[in-house]
Amino acid sequence: MDTVNQTGSSQAHAVCALEQVPDGGATAVDAMLAGGEESLILLRRGRQVSGYLNICPHAGNRLDYAPGKFLLKNDSLICAVHGAVFNQADGLCTGGPCRGQSLHAVPLRVIDGIVCIDPAALP
Ligand code: FES
Repeated sequence: MDTVNQTGSSQAHAVCALEQVPDGGATAVDAMLAGGEESLILLRRGRQVSGYLNICPHAGNRLDYAPGKFLLKNDSLICAVHGAVFNQADGLCTGGPCRGQSLHAVPLRVIDGIVCIDPAALP
């Protein structure tokens, strides 16, 4: 995985180019986090990208119906397995079998057109 130098002494790990995430859409990438390699959901709005572990709090399944393909409706992300509905903005489940639980957020930054994981989430 590439390392991107930032201003100061901290470093962030690049996960993909911003252009690889469709604007207004989502994709999945594999990334090395403190707990090991994980699939991440990346959700993009313009130059802002939100990240969550691709693990549904209901039964621990991936949320995509095919690798990197997610059910999105308005501002929601819908788990493809049993239909739990999550806010894209904060990962809170607002309907379905795990209502009130949340996706696990992964802090991201966009640096020079590259989506990077915040160093706090790294090993
Ligand atoms: S695994 Fe996501 S709703 Fe059941």
